[in-house]
Amino acid sequence: MKTDVEYLEFMWPMRHFLITCGDIEGKSNIIAVSFCMPVSREPSLIACAIGKGAYSCKLIESTKEFIVNIPPKELKPKIYYCGSHSGYQVDKFKETGLTLQPARKLRVPIINECIAHMECKVKQEIETGDKNLFIGEVIEAYADESIVRGEIKIEYAKGGFPKKIYATRFRCK
Ligand SMILES: Cc1cc2nc3c(=O)[nH]c(=O)nc-3n(C[C@H](O)[C@H](O)[C@H](O)COP(=O)(O)O)c2cc1C
Repeated sequence: MKTDVEYLEFMWPMRHFLITCGDIEGKSNIIAVSFCMPVSREPSLIACAIGKGAYSCKLIESTKEFIVNIPPKELKPKIYYCGSHSGYQVDKFKETGLTLQPARKLRVPIINECIAHMECKVKQEIETGDKNLFIGEVIEAYADESIVRGEIKIEYAKGGFPKKIYATRFRCK
């Protein structure tokens, strides 16, 4: 016997990413994203699906740039904060205590506490359903030296279906 389910529930666990974006005046925002994956090696392209109502969607649409920051597992509470509050209402850098640092090429900052960063320029934007898919070319990719050398081992943040957050948008049992 098979029964109907919420399809998304079976796509987890997924890696969690913290994407930074900003406006032309330099105000920066962070969004927690799991719908994010590589879609080409040459050129290096990453696709991220961002909710149409998210502040980050508006910011990325206007500046055409974003940075994918890789958070270690320890940042999970901050990831959940960034994933359940909107930059329309709060300053997530201030509220989480995460600190920003200038990126190499883009005006958008990186998150210091993350261990790797991919600076992306939007090449294509596709309207999917409730999200816009931003396909970004990775123009810079760098990580903490100690991790690259294997001196420090970290666990990346990943997790299951965040029901509390998605319950407002999807049918959850
Ligand atoms: C673990 C996790 C993963 C998430 N993945 C996505 C995602 O892939 N795309 C998306 O649009 N929202 C995702 N969200 C929800 C957004 O982070 C959330 O709507 C956020 O408040 C939007 O912030 P903003 O309005 O400042 O852009 C996720 C939340 C969490 C906690």
